Amino acid sequence: MDIYGDYEKTLQAVADSLQEKIHTYCNTHLEATGEKLYEHLSWRIKTPESMLDKCRREGYPIEPRSALKLVHDAIGIRIVCLFIDDIHKNIEEIKKLPGIRVYREKDYISAAKPNGYRSYHLILELEDETPDIDGNSPGTYFAEVQLRTIAMDTWAALEHELKYKKDIRHPELISEELKRCADELAACDVSLQTLRELIRN
Ligand code: GTP
Ligand code: MG
Repeated sequence: MDIYGDYEKTLQAVADSLQEKIHTYCNTHLEATGEKLYEHLSWRIKTPESMLDKCRREGYPIEPRSALKLVHDAIGIRIVCLFIDDIHKNIEEIKKLPGIRVYREKDYISAAKPNGYRSYHLILELEDETPDIDGNSPGTYFAEVQLRTIAMDTWAALEHELKYKKDIRHPELISEELKRCADELAACDVSLQTLRELIRN
């Protein structure tokens, strides 16, 4: 069975509309200040295979409602910024967008994960005219927005790659080194932020 039922196209449309709204406030900000609020943005709909895996892992019923209402990252948007303070400006802008409610917020920047992972996650509830699987009209759809700096993104990409490599030798040493890299990159992010302020003033 298709884990998204008839909703895959709707999810695409909801995601596209959200990224369009983000794009718009970014352009407005660029025109007003000459500064880009983010370096780049990407989005994806979780593949049906990984959604199925996730539902199984979480012990949810294998049906579209689980993918749409119990799992909250069928839609994933990643916003990668040059500086830490841009992350917070984006969060402010996103919170101002119409038809959007913050369902959950996870600040892995103030409190990094033990492995060194840093990012700010917003789980959003998005209103869309397409009725949802519970019959609400307008419907509500979830999306996970991950906000990070380029340094955090680089680290997460590397860690993600290593996580799935089998037969790694010295795994504890590698975890320790990864953690050290994450902390050094975080220190660099702070220095770059300070440098930006020095240049501005
Ligand atoms: P899932 O991890 O998606 O099952 O949900 P969760 O409730 O554990 O949320 P969490 O905030 O931990 O993770 C959500 C997403 O953030 C993940 O799917 C990854 O994309 C990213 N993420 C979280 N932790 C890590 C990490 O340690 N390393 C990397 N590379 N990405 C992470
Ligand atoms: Mg997780």
